[in-house]
Amino acid sequence: MDISDCKIITLPKICDRRGNLSFIEGSIHIPFDISRVYYLYDVPGGSERGGHAHKDLQQLIIAMSGSFDVVLDDGVNKIRYHLNRSYIGLYIPHMIWRELDNFSSGAVCMVLASNRYDESDYYRNYESYLKNKGVIID
Ligand code: TYD
Repeated sequence: MDISDCKIITLPKICDRRGNLSFIEGSIHIPFDISRVYYLYDVPGGSERGGHAHKDLQQLIIAMSGSFDVVLDDGVNKIRYHLNRSYIGLYIPHMIWRELDNFSSGAVCMVLASNRYDESDYYRNYESYLKNKGVIID
């Protein structure tokens, strides 16, 4: 996997003068079934989250409120996305290192995940991630 496998997904948006509505159906609007939803909120200004990659997990990240940046890194290339719309998702396949920063006040980061929480699915050490990707060799 490399950062060209990551993509912005524009979700359906039903516009109405009563307010807009978006929806997500697993394996229809995003390329995986949804097993878990989690969200980051009350993030203090200047905080950084993420700082890991997943062996198997796929995710879709949405700024449900406010804004933040997601930096994707495949060990060779990096790209920074600014998310600030609740109908735009950033799809991240497995084996991509991600860091989240630049949270606005009131930002809510919702993450749809393909699997349940499993700590053994994480690379939390950048060097061991690079070794497992074959970017650096012992
Ligand atoms: P962590 O993955 O480190 O957050 P971030 O994405 O910002 O790096 O998770 C922080 C803590 O929350 C950690 O102790 C694991 C726990 N956690 C769960 O118990 N379930 C979950 O679904 C998630 C995402 C985290």
